[in-house]
Amino acid sequence: MRKPLIAANWKMYKTPTESTAFLTSFYPLVKNNTVAELVLCPTMTSLPALVDAARGKTIFIGAQNMHWLPEGAYTGETSPTMLTAIGVSHVLIGHSERRQYFNETDTTVNLKLKSALAHDLIPIVCVGEHLNERERNLTADVLNLQVAVALEGIDPATLAPLVIAYEPVWAIGTGRTATPEIAGEAHRIIRAQISKIAGSEIAASTRILYGGSVKPDNAATLCQVEDIDGALVGGASLDPSSFAQIVTNATIH
Ligand code: PGA
Repeated sequence: MRKPLIAANWKMYKTPTESTAFLTSFYPLVKNNTVAELVLCPTMTSLPALVDAARGKTIFIGAQNMHWLPEGAYTGETSPTMLTAIGVSHVLIGHSERRQYFNETDTTVNLKLKSALAHDLIPIVCVGEHLNERERNLTADVLNLQVAVALEGIDPATLAPLVIAYEPVWAIGTGRTATPEIAGEAHRIIRAQISKIAGSEIAASTRILYGGSVKPDNAATLCQVEDIDGALVGGASLDPSSFAQIVTNATIH
């Protein structure tokens, strides 16, 4: 019932030329994959070229961030209407690097989520605990709060497109992956919290992705876990064959 979603987060890597070259190599490797929804999230400057290159292909293009307002005096920002105007379909919201380096908070995540839903963008809302929070047994509290504030004031009837990415901060770019047991437990916590806030139907249909050092050799075991509905991949998504292998391995079961 939940279509797996596998997304590449390229962070601040790849020019437009490098982005379209990636697609040229990558697409033949995954074009027969009908199981998963595949999303590439490049930097803002690569979005137009990649949207054009992906036309007619079963690949969606997402932004890594956006402002919540449609326009305004906000130097350096990009609005949801600007993204949809060029054919962007998905958007990452509240990635831990945005929270850590650019002062994003659960409150701005909430504003951005409301805006993405209002503009028909598929939101991928990132949540996850820091290592010191896990060590102090605060993981459930942190996840419950992040999800609660993200969903505050949103009509459950509008939440069907919602995607959550569980990304434990200690696993991002560190080579340290959550075990399937740890990830599965966090995903169950998140789904239970969505159920409490938005009802069991929305909770059952919301896709919850795992992110944090996903590689070709751990994608299968992670994505086999009942509550894990796909992956958000950073470093290992920069290489076409590595990311294609992740797609294959994550969808073989
Ligand atoms: P990583 O990044 O796969 O390099 O750990 C994941 C992410 O930041 O989304």
